Amino acid sequence: MKLAIIGAGNVGGALGTAWAQKAGHEICFGVRDPKADKTQALLRAIGAKARAGMAAEAAAFADIIVLATPWPAAETAIRAMGSLKGKVILDATNPLTRGPDGISLEIGHSISAGEKVQGWAAGASVFKTLNSTGFGNMANPVFNGVKSVMFVAGDDAANKPKVIDLVGQLGFDVVDAGPLRNARLLEAHAMLWIDLALARGQGRDFAFAIVRR
Ligand SMILES: NC(=O)c1ccc[n+]([C@@H]2O[C@H](COP(=O)([O-])OP(=O)(O)OC[C@H]3O[C@@H](n4cnc5c(N)ncnc54)[C@H](OP(=O)(O)O)[C@@H]3O)[C@@H](O)[C@H]2O)c1
Repeated sequence: MKLAIIGAGNVGGALGTAWAQKAGHEICFGVRDPKADKTQALLRAIGAKARAGMAAEAAAFADIIVLATPWPAAETAIRAMGSLKGKVILDATNPLTRGPDGISLEIGHSISAGEKVQGWAAGASVFKTLNSTGFGNMANPVFNGVKSVMFVAGDDAANKPKVIDLVGQLGFDVVDAGPLRNARLLEAHAMLWIDLALARGQGRDFAFAIVRR
């Protein structure tokens, strides 16, 4: 499968590496400077399955696009992709802001980043996923034989199984978390992981899992 990943930082790099190396997908990173040393180093590390271009080139390359930019850059990055009609977007962003009490969510009760992304990406189907655990866990989601959980929220029932399968190829236990408006819950869930990791001493090497009877 051809995948576009907008943003080649911690999250974009981890996802592109895992999908290319574990599942054999072709990756095109959409970045502001495809020739940048850090991007070239990432491409070398992944190998022949990866390339980089401007956001519009990456979006044209693939039907499935992962948004992995910082939240303040998300709208600009989406607009830079041009027409997104018929594309599937996996939104990994979290609408983080830094206030007197540290990092928190900028929005969340009445709108989410996922819903805002849908508003900017006319004609695309947006799914909220890959936002609620650290990038290190995206590279390796399995803890002592137990798959950590990753939720998928989105309104497009026809494309949801494809998204669930793609996220599952990373090694997650993927759970359908309902409609895109539930991005409000998934972004709060991400904020809990961030708070535990950065402010409660858990570090980055833990993840949430679902246990069942
Ligand atoms: N870090 C985590 O563990 C984690 C986990 C889950 C979700 N998230 C979310 O995932 C997103 C990315 O986080 P990250 O840690 O990967 O950030 P990061 O390491 O700072 O990487 C962000 C990437 O986005 C690129 N970028 C910035 N503006 C852009 C634009 N207009 N067009 C295209 N690319 C652009 C940056 O490129 P330049 O180098 O050119 O600036 C960089 O490659 C954030 O929204 C974050 O909240 C992060």
